[in-house]
Amino acid sequence: HAEKKLPCRPEMFDFEGISMTHFFTENWEKVRNFQSRPDDILIATYPKAGTTWVSYILDLLYFGNEDPECQTSKPIYMRIPFLESCFQEFSTVAGTEMADSLTTTPRLIKTHLPVQLVPKSFWDQNSRIVYVARNAKDNAVSYFHFDRMNMVQPEPGDWNHFLEKFMKGKNVFGPWYDHVSGWWEKKQTYSNLLYLFYEDLVEDTGREVERLCSFLGLSISAEEREKITKGVQFDTMKQNKMINHVTIPFMDFKISPFMRKAQSFRVGGMSTRNMAESMNAASVVDGKFVLKSIF
Ligand code: A3P
Repeated sequence: HAEKKLPCRPEMFDFEGISMTHFFTENWEKVRNFQSRPDDILIATYPKAGTTWVSYILDLLYFGNEDPECQTSKPIYMRIPFLESCFQEFSTVAGTEMADSLTTTPRLIKTHLPVQLVPKSFWDQNSRIVYVARNAKDNAVSYFHFDRMNMVQPEPGDWNHFLEKFMKGKNVFGPWYDHVSGWWEKKQTYSNLLYLFYEDLVEDTGREVERLCSFLGLSISAEEREKITKGVQFDTMKQNKMINHVTIPFMDFKISPFMRKAQSFRVGGMSTRNMAESMNAASVVDGKFVLKSIF
């Protein structure tokens, strides 16, 4: 194996009030003017909230039977374009361009944009959107390890430094709290939005697959659902080279794997909702660490 040549880490700057790196702003005109189609499905998350997990579930739901070859030869990030991404230095196609050239229907498109930056066309077309939220603690831990191993992310420093930055919302894609609560508010007025929780997926993946199917108007057999549920378990996905990102040139897997631990924070067997409240009771970070206003 040839040693990977790792790039320099990017600077972070303010973009429309959100911390960003040039990888997500360079192609902004095309992102802003992106033309969505009515049958597009947008997968929206704060980074490290379970994007790949839900992406893979949707990919299997729509294309699992149709295109087995694609499943074993085309990495997930080629099948599901990352809308705002533009990694020109690595000779990859920008997210918008990749989406434009997709011939499959529906198009599955991934974004980490906070709700106010989503291209207008998605709202105009009334596209379906699946949002996934993950509790702040595990989301932050996962993001820390991701920044350590992903050389196109800003240098995270040590955990204390990272956590302080995270609490101030100085991460790429901005404050976690504003992200999860902004999308939650959107759900109150935009009915084509399904809001899922990572912790619910951990608790009962099959149930969440069913929830997805009913949102998308898909009917699948019990066997099919069982098969998909099994296929998307952590250990299975971790072994799958088309999913675990090992083909990405700027990630250093010696530092950390992309699929790391999949922790789901539980306090004494409490539910996700209780857990959020207990984090607040423990006042982890002046009430901003929790989805209090949501629950
Ligand atoms: P950890 O870093 O805690 O392990 P994203 O896809 O948004 O980047 O999120 C990545 C996180 O989702 C990682 O968390 C990864 O392990 C977790 N994840 C991915 N697939 C999963 C699965 N099948 N079950 C549980 N967690 C999963």
